[in-house]
Amino acid sequence: MQVMERVLDGAFLAPSLRSALDRSDLAPVDRSFVTDLSYGTLRRLAWLDAALAPRLRAPEQLPGPVLCALRLGSYDLLIRGTPPHAGVHAWVEAVKADHPRMAGLVNAVLRRVEPPISPTPAARLALPDWLLEGFRVSLGDADAERAAAAMLEPGPLWLRAYTPDAAERLLADGCEVAPGPVAGTLRVRAPRPLDRLEAYRDGAVQPQNPASCLAAELLAPSEGERVLDLAAGHGIKTAQLASAGARVTAVEVDERKARASAANLRRLGLTAEHRTADLTRRLDLAAAPAVLLDAPCSGSGTLRGHPEIKLRLGPSDVAETARRQASMLDTAAALTAPGGRLVYAVCSLLEPEGEAQVSAFVDRHPEFTADVLAPSVPHVASPHGAYLLPLEGLDGFFVARLRRA
Ligand SMILES: C[S@@+](CC[C@H](N)C(=O)[O-])C[C@H]1O[C@@H](n2cnc3c(N)ncnc32)[C@H](O)[C@@H]1O
Repeated sequence: MQVMERVLDGAFLAPSLRSALDRSDLAPVDRSFVTDLSYGTLRRLAWLDAALAPRLRAPEQLPGPVLCALRLGSYDLLIRGTPPHAGVHAWVEAVKADHPRMAGLVNAVLRRVEPPISPTPAARLALPDWLLEGFRVSLGDADAERAAAAMLEPGPLWLRAYTPDAAERLLADGCEVAPGPVAGTLRVRAPRPLDRLEAYRDGAVQPQNPASCLAAELLAPSEGERVLDLAAGHGIKTAQLASAGARVTAVEVDERKARASAANLRRLGLTAEHRTADLTRRLDLAAAPAVLLDAPCSGSGTLRGHPEIKLRLGPSDVAETARRQASMLDTAAALTAPGGRLVYAVCSLLEPEGEAQVSAFVDRHPEFTADVLAPSVPHVASPHGAYLLPLEGLDGFFVARLRRA
């Protein structure tokens, strides 16, 4: 309930939950339960509110913790399938200490709550109307609904292998391991947090969604090739490119992220050069034959892992990120050597950050042409790239590969 309240107040879910769990002495099974409650409830918040609506006169007037208990409790009962005789009492007790007068209400509501009858598509998929409409524009009706529904379900832990024996090491750590849908990726169930696995500490693995691996893979650098990784962040793709033998220069505006990237590369036994710079401005750096721009975006393809995004994002935020992406793409174009290739990726499924962005780019830069892509995961092709669908635990991305004449 505390984590939920904090997130509804504007905090990010992952760090809020991590710090609450670190302060708790919960057993692993209870940590998983709390994690599912938090993510699941935020993923389905609009649907849960539609379920609660007929039972509550003025939900916005309830004390924050009481509303949180009702939403979490509804998720527990309606989605996790906990029977009322086992599930209701705990939520009543949870509000009793601070709001004793509300205990009866919580009991009565949770005993009667039912799935909403004929919810609107947006309530059914727990997405704001404008966002669902945005997915329809880029993906078409059927794939938009498929994508939105898939992002309501939890995803597995995905790791990318950095040593040939990564899977064996994970097994020795007590993990369950299966191959992922993209070469080098593993679907893992870990018995304890990642940073307490030997395989992670020894640099055998790195968490990375297969869709993210695929985006960097489109660059296909050759051994020793000079690569610019623009908007390199914590360097997840920097590591991937360096492990392919490329000589990588990672450029990022946030110095703390650049330092974290350098430390992570050391863990993995890899090296790259780091530069701190604002890529919306021209950059004094020699052009390279291979450039990746993994641009900052709305994150609309990552609602499974970051469900709080859909509670905050608005159309004007997307317009703002699209403007920034356009100016970063112009910088990336100047840094791509003649004959070179430029991969553009965003973890968004929205047209202004995807197809429309690249279509406008080739109009501004006729020296670039877009490759026809055939990614190995479910996708929706567009004239200048492809939307990777966020099915079965994958993140949603838009990717394009541009070649300079
Ligand atoms: C999608 S994330 C990059 C993730 C990273 N490529 C990875 O795989 O780990 C986008 C990054 O762009 C950075 N960024 C935002 N505005 C920027 C700017 N004007 N110049 C350079 N980097 C910027 C953000 O700090 C963020 O780290």
